[in-house]
Amino acid sequence: MTKIDLTRKIDIPDWVEALTKPTRIGSGELERQWEEIGDEVLEAVHKVLPTGKYTLGPYLKQFEQEFAAFSDSKFAIGISSGTAALHIALEAMGVGPGDEVITVCNTYVATAFAASYCGATPVFVDIDPKTYNLTAELVEKKITPKTKVILPVHLYGHVVDMDPIMELAKKHNLYVLEDASHAHGGYYKGRRVGSLGHAAAFSFYPSKNMGAYGDGGIITTSDPDLNEKIRMLRYVGQRVKFIHEVIGFQDRLDEIQAAMLSVKLRHLDDWNNQRRHIASIYDEMLKDTPLQLPQVADYCHHVYYSYATVAPSEEERKNLLIHLANHDIGGFAMYPILVPMQGAYEFLGYKEEDFPVGAPFVRRVLNLPIFENFRDDEAIETAKAILAYYDRA
Ligand SMILES: Cc1ncc(COP(=O)(O)O)c(C=O)c1O
Repeated sequence: MTKIDLTRKIDIPDWVEALTKPTRIGSGELERQWEEIGDEVLEAVHKVLPTGKYTLGPYLKQFEQEFAAFSDSKFAIGISSGTAALHIALEAMGVGPGDEVITVCNTYVATAFAASYCGATPVFVDIDPKTYNLTAELVEKKITPKTKVILPVHLYGHVVDMDPIMELAKKHNLYVLEDASHAHGGYYKGRRVGSLGHAAAFSFYPSKNMGAYGDGGIITTSDPDLNEKIRMLRYVGQRVKFIHEVIGFQDRLDEIQAAMLSVKLRHLDDWNNQRRHIASIYDEMLKDTPLQLPQVADYCHHVYYSYATVAPSEEERKNLLIHLANHDIGGFAMYPILVPMQGAYEFLGYKEEDFPVGAPFVRRVLNLPIFENFRDDEAIETAKAILAYYDRA
Protein backbone atom coordinates (compact mmCIF):
# COMPACT_ATOMS: atom_id res chain seq x y z
CA MET A 1 0.00 0.00 0.00
CA THR A 2 1.26 3.50 -0.82
CA LYS A 3 0.84 5.96 2.06
CA ILE A 4 0.15 9.49 0.77
CA ASP A 5 0.52 12.53 3.03
CA LEU A 6 -1.22 15.49 1.39
CA THR A 7 -0.20 17.84 4.21
CA ARG A 8 3.49 17.42 3.38
CA LYS A 9 5.21 20.76 2.60
CA ILE A 10 6.85 20.91 -0.83
CA ASP A 11 9.83 23.23 -1.44
CA ILE A 12 9.61 24.75 -4.91
CA PRO A 13 12.82 26.48 -6.07
CA ASP A 14 12.28 30.22 -6.75
CA TRP A 15 13.45 29.98 -10.38
CA VAL A 16 10.78 27.44 -11.32
CA GLU A 17 8.25 30.20 -12.00
CA ALA A 18 10.53 31.80 -14.61
CA LEU A 19 10.63 28.47 -16.41
CA THR A 20 6.90 28.02 -16.69
CA LYS A 21 6.54 30.87 -19.19
CA PRO A 22 6.11 29.65 -22.77
CA THR A 23 9.22 30.61 -24.76
CA ARG A 24 9.85 31.73 -28.33
CA ILE A 25 12.97 29.57 -28.56
CA GLY A 26 12.84 26.03 -27.25
CA SER A 27 9.18 25.13 -27.80
CA GLY A 28 7.30 23.87 -30.83
CA GLU A 29 9.33 20.73 -31.57
CA LEU A 30 6.35 18.47 -32.16
CA GLU A 31 4.37 21.02 -34.16
CA ARG A 32 7.35 21.44 -36.52
CA GLN A 33 7.78 17.70 -36.72
CA TRP A 34 4.12 17.38 -37.71
CA GLU A 35 4.67 19.87 -40.52
CA GLU A 36 7.55 17.73 -41.76
CA ILE A 37 6.02 14.25 -41.59
CA GLY A 38 2.29 14.77 -40.91
CA ASP A 39 1.24 13.51 -44.37
CA GLU A 40 3.25 10.30 -43.99
CA VAL A 41 1.85 9.76 -40.50
CA LEU A 42 -1.74 10.31 -41.64
CA GLU A 43 -1.22 7.82 -44.45
CA ALA A 44 -0.15 5.24 -41.85
CA VAL A 45 -3.18 6.04 -39.68
CA HIS A 46 -5.51 5.66 -42.67
CA LYS A 47 -4.09 2.21 -43.30
CA VAL A 48 -4.72 1.02 -39.73
CA LEU A 49 -8.15 2.48 -38.96
CA PRO A 50 -10.22 0.62 -41.59
CA THR A 51 -8.74 -2.76 -40.57
CA GLY A 52 -10.69 -2.96 -37.30
CA LYS A 53 -7.60 -4.53 -35.72
CA TYR A 54 -6.20 -2.10 -33.14
CA THR A 55 -4.11 -4.27 -30.81
CA LEU A 56 -1.46 -6.92 -31.49
CA GLY A 57 -1.91 -6.78 -35.26
CA PRO A 58 0.32 -6.69 -38.34
CA TYR A 59 1.49 -3.08 -37.89
CA LEU A 60 2.86 -3.78 -34.42
CA LYS A 61 4.54 -6.94 -35.72
CA GLN A 62 6.11 -5.00 -38.57
CA PHE A 63 7.31 -2.17 -36.33
CA GLU A 64 8.77 -4.64 -33.85
CA GLN A 65 10.75 -6.30 -36.65
CA GLU A 66 11.96 -2.94 -37.95
CA PHE A 67 12.96 -1.68 -34.51
CA ALA A 68 14.76 -4.95 -33.67
CA ALA A 69 16.76 -4.75 -36.91
CA PHE A 70 17.50 -1.05 -36.31
CA SER A 71 18.74 -1.88 -32.79
CA ASP A 72 20.97 -4.83 -33.85
CA SER A 73 18.71 -7.08 -31.75
CA LYS A 74 16.87 -10.33 -32.49
CA PHE A 75 13.61 -9.23 -30.87
CA ALA A 76 11.64 -6.09 -30.04
CA ILE A 77 8.42 -6.12 -28.03
CA GLY A 78 6.13 -3.07 -28.14
CA ILE A 79 4.98 -1.89 -24.70
CA SER A 80 2.51 0.78 -23.54
CA SER A 81 5.17 3.16 -22.09
CA GLY A 82 8.84 3.39 -21.20
CA THR A 83 8.00 2.94 -17.53
CA ALA A 84 6.07 -0.26 -18.25
CA ALA A 85 8.91 -1.44 -20.52
CA LEU A 86 11.41 -1.11 -17.63
CA HIS A 87 9.01 -2.81 -15.23
CA ILE A 88 8.17 -5.73 -17.51
CA ALA A 89 11.81 -6.29 -18.48
CA LEU A 90 12.77 -6.48 -14.78
CA GLU A 91 9.87 -8.86 -14.07
CA ALA A 92 11.01 -11.04 -16.99
CA MET A 93 14.51 -11.08 -15.47
CA GLY A 94 12.96 -12.53 -12.32
CA VAL A 95 13.33 -9.46 -10.10
CA GLY A 96 11.15 -9.63 -6.98
CA PRO A 97 10.94 -8.82 -3.27
CA GLY A 98 14.31 -9.00 -1.50
CA ASP A 99 16.26 -8.33 -4.71
CA GLU A 100 18.36 -5.25 -5.45
CA VAL A 101 18.61 -3.39 -8.74
CA ILE A 102 21.64 -1.09 -9.08
CA THR A 103 20.99 2.11 -10.98
CA VAL A 104 22.16 5.69 -11.17
CA CYS A 105 21.15 8.50 -8.79
CA ASN A 106 20.58 11.02 -11.60
CA THR A 107 17.75 9.74 -13.81
CA TYR A 108 14.02 9.99 -14.34
CA VAL A 109 12.18 8.49 -11.35
CA ALA A 110 10.63 5.77 -13.51
CA THR A 111 13.99 3.97 -13.79
CA ALA A 112 13.94 3.33 -10.05
CA PHE A 113 10.17 2.99 -9.73
CA ALA A 114 10.31 0.00 -12.10
CA ALA A 115 12.44 -1.85 -9.54
CA SER A 116 10.07 -0.81 -6.77
CA TYR A 117 7.03 -2.06 -8.76
CA CYS A 118 8.68 -5.51 -8.70
CA GLY A 119 8.96 -5.28 -4.90
CA ALA A 120 12.76 -4.94 -5.20
CA THR A 121 15.01 -2.20 -3.80
CA PRO A 122 16.71 0.28 -6.11
CA VAL A 123 20.32 0.86 -5.07
CA PHE A 124 21.67 4.19 -6.28
CA VAL A 125 25.23 4.94 -7.34
CA ASP A 126 26.93 8.25 -8.01
CA ILE A 127 27.84 9.56 -11.48
CA ASP A 128 31.05 9.99 -13.41
CA PRO A 129 31.88 13.73 -13.57
CA LYS A 130 32.58 13.69 -17.33
CA THR A 131 29.84 11.51 -18.82
CA TYR A 132 27.29 12.04 -16.00
CA ASN A 133 26.66 8.26 -16.21
CA LEU A 134 27.27 5.38 -13.84
CA THR A 135 30.48 3.34 -14.28
CA ALA A 136 31.42 -0.27 -13.59
CA GLU A 137 33.72 0.92 -10.81
CA LEU A 138 30.88 2.69 -9.00
CA VAL A 139 28.52 -0.25 -9.51
CA GLU A 140 30.98 -2.87 -8.26
CA LYS A 141 31.13 -1.26 -4.81
CA LYS A 142 27.36 -1.74 -4.42
CA ILE A 143 27.06 -5.38 -5.49
CA THR A 144 25.70 -7.64 -2.73
CA PRO A 145 24.33 -11.20 -2.75
CA LYS A 146 20.90 -9.60 -3.27
CA THR A 147 21.85 -7.81 -6.50
CA LYS A 148 19.98 -9.15 -9.50
CA VAL A 149 20.19 -6.50 -12.22
CA ILE A 150 22.40 -3.57 -13.21
CA LEU A 151 20.30 -0.82 -14.79
CA PRO A 152 22.47 1.76 -16.57
CA VAL A 153 20.83 4.84 -18.12
CA HIS A 154 22.30 6.40 -21.28
CA LEU A 155 21.63 9.83 -19.82
CA TYR A 156 20.96 12.73 -22.22
CA GLY A 157 21.94 10.41 -25.12
CA HIS A 158 25.52 9.77 -23.94
CA VAL A 159 25.99 6.01 -24.02
CA VAL A 160 27.28 4.30 -20.86
CA ASP A 161 30.67 2.55 -21.06
CA MET A 162 29.02 -0.85 -21.40
CA ASP A 163 31.85 -3.37 -21.91
CA PRO A 164 33.10 -3.11 -18.28
CA ILE A 165 29.48 -3.28 -17.06
CA MET A 166 28.87 -6.49 -19.04
CA GLU A 167 32.12 -8.00 -17.70
CA LEU A 168 31.07 -7.17 -14.15
CA ALA A 169 27.63 -8.69 -14.77
CA LYS A 170 29.19 -11.87 -16.10
CA LYS A 171 31.50 -12.14 -13.08
CA HIS A 172 28.57 -11.80 -10.66
CA ASN A 173 25.95 -13.59 -12.77
CA LEU A 174 23.70 -10.53 -13.11
CA TYR A 175 21.39 -9.27 -15.79
CA VAL A 176 21.96 -5.87 -17.41
CA LEU A 177 18.96 -3.82 -18.53
CA GLU A 178 19.75 -0.64 -20.49
CA ASP A 179 17.43 2.29 -19.87
CA ALA A 180 17.68 3.59 -23.42
CA SER A 181 14.94 6.20 -23.13
CA HIS A 182 17.35 9.05 -23.97
CA ALA A 183 19.38 7.30 -26.62
CA HIS A 184 17.32 5.89 -29.51
CA GLY A 185 19.75 5.35 -32.38
CA GLY A 186 22.94 5.97 -30.37
CA TYR A 187 26.04 3.80 -30.80
CA TYR A 188 28.67 2.33 -28.48
CA LYS A 189 31.88 1.31 -30.27
CA GLY A 190 29.83 1.00 -33.47
CA ARG A 191 27.10 -1.11 -31.84
CA ARG A 192 23.59 0.24 -31.45
CA VAL A 193 22.04 1.15 -28.16
CA GLY A 194 19.49 -1.57 -27.41
CA SER A 195 21.91 -4.39 -28.23
CA LEU A 196 24.43 -3.72 -25.45
CA GLY A 197 22.81 -5.30 -22.37
CA HIS A 198 20.71 -8.46 -22.00
CA ALA A 199 17.71 -6.25 -22.77
CA ALA A 200 16.95 -2.55 -23.23
CA ALA A 201 13.85 -0.49 -22.46
CA PHE A 202 12.99 2.55 -24.58
CA SER A 203 10.39 5.25 -23.96
CA PHE A 204 8.43 6.71 -26.85
CA TYR A 205 7.22 9.66 -24.78
CA PRO A 206 6.40 12.32 -27.42
CA SER A 207 9.44 14.54 -26.83
CA LYS A 208 12.03 11.75 -26.97
CA ASN A 209 14.43 11.42 -29.93
CA MET A 210 11.69 9.18 -31.30
CA GLY A 211 8.28 9.65 -29.71
CA ALA A 212 4.78 8.26 -30.15
CA TYR A 213 1.59 10.32 -30.46
CA GLY A 214 0.88 9.64 -26.80
CA ASP A 215 2.57 7.09 -24.57
CA GLY A 216 4.55 4.15 -25.85
CA GLY A 217 7.66 2.07 -25.29
CA ILE A 218 9.55 -0.99 -26.49
CA ILE A 219 11.95 -3.62 -25.16
CA THR A 220 14.77 -5.03 -27.28
CA THR A 221 16.62 -8.26 -26.54
CA SER A 222 18.44 -11.04 -28.35
CA ASP A 223 17.62 -13.59 -25.63
CA PRO A 224 14.77 -15.88 -26.83
CA ASP A 225 13.83 -16.74 -23.25
CA LEU A 226 13.46 -13.08 -22.21
CA ASN A 227 11.57 -12.35 -25.44
CA GLU A 228 8.98 -15.01 -24.68
CA LYS A 229 8.58 -14.01 -21.03
CA ILE A 230 8.22 -10.32 -21.94
CA ARG A 231 5.55 -11.13 -24.54
CA MET A 232 3.60 -13.11 -21.91
CA LEU A 233 3.92 -10.39 -19.29
CA ARG A 234 2.80 -7.54 -21.56
CA TYR A 235 -0.43 -9.41 -22.38
CA VAL A 236 -1.89 -10.67 -19.09
CA GLY A 237 0.37 -13.68 -18.73
CA GLN A 238 -0.74 -15.56 -21.84
CA ARG A 239 1.19 -17.47 -24.44
CA VAL A 240 -2.06 -18.92 -25.77
CA LYS A 241 -5.26 -16.88 -25.67
CA PHE A 242 -7.40 -17.53 -22.55
CA ILE A 243 -4.60 -19.54 -20.89
CA HIS A 244 -3.15 -17.21 -18.19
CA GLU A 245 -0.06 -18.96 -16.87
CA VAL A 246 1.16 -16.09 -14.68
CA ILE A 247 -0.21 -12.77 -13.38
CA GLY A 248 0.79 -10.50 -16.22
CA PHE A 249 -0.03 -6.93 -17.26
CA GLN A 250 -2.07 -5.16 -19.93
CA ASP A 251 0.77 -3.17 -21.42
CA ARG A 252 0.80 -3.53 -25.20
CA LEU A 253 1.83 -0.87 -27.70
CA ASP A 254 -1.23 0.05 -29.78
CA GLU A 255 -1.40 -0.86 -33.45
CA ILE A 256 -1.95 2.77 -34.49
CA GLN A 257 1.07 3.98 -32.48
CA ALA A 258 3.20 1.24 -34.02
CA ALA A 259 2.22 2.29 -37.55
CA MET A 260 3.05 5.93 -36.79
CA LEU A 261 6.35 4.94 -35.15
CA SER A 262 7.34 2.99 -38.28
CA VAL A 263 7.18 6.32 -40.12
CA LYS A 264 9.35 8.05 -37.52
CA LEU A 265 11.95 5.26 -37.46
CA ARG A 266 12.78 6.07 -41.08
CA HIS A 267 13.74 9.62 -40.01
CA LEU A 268 15.54 8.85 -36.76
CA ASP A 269 19.15 8.75 -37.96
CA ASP A 270 18.73 12.04 -39.87
CA TRP A 271 17.05 13.63 -36.87
CA ASN A 272 19.85 12.50 -34.55
CA ASN A 273 22.41 13.94 -36.95
CA GLN A 274 20.57 17.25 -36.81
CA ARG A 275 20.71 17.16 -32.99
CA ARG A 276 24.46 16.49 -33.26
CA HIS A 277 24.81 19.46 -35.59
CA ILE A 278 23.03 21.77 -33.13
CA ALA A 279 25.28 20.43 -30.33
CA SER A 280 28.34 21.30 -32.45
CA ILE A 281 27.11 24.92 -32.68
CA TYR A 282 26.83 25.12 -28.89
CA ASP A 283 30.21 23.37 -28.47
CA GLU A 284 31.94 25.90 -30.68
CA MET A 285 30.22 29.06 -29.47
CA LEU A 286 30.32 28.30 -25.75
CA LYS A 287 33.76 26.73 -25.50
CA ASP A 288 35.34 29.75 -23.77
CA THR A 289 32.57 30.32 -21.22
CA PRO A 290 32.71 29.11 -17.60
CA LEU A 291 30.07 26.49 -18.44
CA GLN A 292 31.20 22.87 -18.48
CA LEU A 293 30.06 21.52 -21.85
CA PRO A 294 29.17 17.89 -22.63
CA GLN A 295 32.31 15.76 -22.94
CA VAL A 296 31.84 12.89 -25.34
CA ALA A 297 33.82 9.70 -24.65
CA ASP A 298 35.48 8.23 -27.74
CA TYR A 299 33.40 5.02 -27.47
CA CYS A 300 30.18 7.00 -27.76
CA HIS A 301 28.10 8.31 -30.65
CA HIS A 302 26.04 10.86 -28.69
CA VAL A 303 22.46 11.51 -29.84
CA TYR A 304 21.80 14.56 -27.64
CA TYR A 305 18.35 13.93 -26.24
CA SER A 306 19.51 16.88 -24.18
CA TYR A 307 22.46 19.26 -24.28
CA ALA A 308 23.48 19.35 -20.61
CA THR A 309 25.96 21.97 -19.43
CA VAL A 310 27.12 22.53 -15.86
CA ALA A 311 27.18 26.04 -14.39
CA PRO A 312 29.98 26.95 -11.95
CA SER A 313 27.52 27.37 -9.06
CA GLU A 314 23.88 26.86 -8.12
CA GLU A 315 23.40 30.65 -8.00
CA GLU A 316 24.83 31.07 -11.50
CA ARG A 317 22.58 28.28 -12.87
CA LYS A 318 19.58 30.13 -11.41
CA ASN A 319 20.72 33.46 -12.89
CA LEU A 320 21.34 31.90 -16.29
CA LEU A 321 17.92 30.23 -16.32
CA ILE A 322 16.26 33.55 -15.49
CA HIS A 323 18.45 35.37 -18.04
CA LEU A 324 17.45 32.89 -20.78
CA ALA A 325 13.78 33.10 -19.80
CA ASN A 326 13.99 36.90 -20.01
CA HIS A 327 15.23 36.46 -23.59
CA ASP A 328 12.29 34.14 -24.30
CA ILE A 329 14.60 31.12 -24.45
CA GLY A 330 13.67 27.88 -22.73
CA GLY A 331 16.60 26.59 -20.70
CA PHE A 332 15.79 24.02 -18.05
CA ALA A 333 17.24 21.81 -15.34
CA MET A 334 16.98 18.07 -15.94
CA TYR A 335 16.81 16.50 -13.44
CA PRO A 336 16.75 19.05 -10.61
CA ILE A 337 16.54 16.51 -7.75
CA LEU A 338 18.39 13.20 -7.37
CA VAL A 339 16.00 10.26 -7.35
CA PRO A 340 17.22 8.95 -3.94
CA MET A 341 16.54 12.43 -2.46
CA GLN A 342 12.91 12.41 -3.64
CA GLY A 343 10.22 11.98 -0.97
CA ALA A 344 9.27 8.68 -2.58
CA TYR A 345 12.64 7.21 -1.50
CA GLU A 346 13.02 8.93 1.86
CA PHE A 347 12.54 5.53 3.51
CA LEU A 348 15.81 4.29 2.01
CA GLY A 349 17.71 6.86 4.11
CA TYR A 350 20.15 8.21 1.53
CA LYS A 351 21.98 11.50 2.19
CA GLU A 352 23.34 14.02 -0.33
CA GLU A 353 26.88 13.13 0.85
CA ASP A 354 26.34 9.66 -0.59
CA PHE A 355 26.57 11.29 -4.03
CA PRO A 356 29.59 13.61 -3.97
CA VAL A 357 29.45 14.17 -7.75
CA GLY A 358 25.71 13.81 -8.42
CA ALA A 359 24.45 16.06 -5.60
CA PRO A 360 26.31 19.23 -6.72
CA PHE A 361 25.66 18.29 -10.37
CA VAL A 362 21.86 18.46 -10.10
CA ARG A 363 22.12 21.88 -8.45
CA ARG A 364 24.18 23.20 -11.36
CA VAL A 365 22.97 21.35 -14.46
CA LEU A 366 21.64 23.67 -17.16
CA ASN A 367 20.07 22.08 -20.22
CA LEU A 368 19.94 24.13 -23.40
CA PRO A 369 17.16 23.70 -25.96
CA ILE A 370 17.88 21.12 -28.64
CA PHE A 371 15.68 19.05 -30.89
CA GLU A 372 15.82 17.62 -34.36
CA ASN A 373 14.16 20.57 -36.06
CA PHE A 374 15.71 23.26 -33.88
CA ARG A 375 17.14 25.82 -36.26
CA ASP A 376 20.77 26.98 -36.45
CA ASP A 377 19.69 30.59 -35.89
CA GLU A 378 17.88 29.56 -32.69
CA ALA A 379 20.97 27.74 -31.39
CA ILE A 380 23.11 30.75 -32.28
CA GLU A 381 20.71 33.13 -30.53
CA THR A 382 20.70 30.90 -27.44
CA ALA A 383 24.49 30.74 -27.37
CA LYS A 384 24.72 34.51 -27.92
CA ALA A 385 22.41 35.10 -24.98
CA ILE A 386 24.75 33.07 -22.80
CA LEU A 387 27.79 34.93 -24.16
CA ALA A 388 26.00 38.21 -23.39
CA TYR A 389 25.44 37.00 -19.84
CA TYR A 390 29.18 36.56 -19.56
CA ASP A 391 29.76 39.88 -21.38
CA ARG A 392 31.49 38.22 -24.28
CA ALA A 393 29.03 38.92 -27.12
C1 LIG B 1 15.46 7.88 -18.44
C2 LIG B 1 13.99 7.58 -18.56
N1 LIG B 1 13.55 6.37 -18.17
C3 LIG B 1 12.25 6.05 -18.24
C4 LIG B 1 11.31 6.93 -18.72
C5 LIG B 1 9.87 6.56 -18.67
O1 LIG B 1 9.26 6.57 -19.93
P1 LIG B 1 7.71 6.89 -20.11
O2 LIG B 1 7.50 8.34 -19.84
O3 LIG B 1 7.49 6.53 -21.56
O4 LIG B 1 6.97 6.01 -19.21
C6 LIG B 1 11.72 8.19 -19.16
C7 LIG B 1 10.74 9.14 -19.70
O5 LIG B 1 10.73 10.30 -19.52
C8 LIG B 1 13.10 8.53 -19.06
O6 LIG B 1 13.54 9.75 -19.43
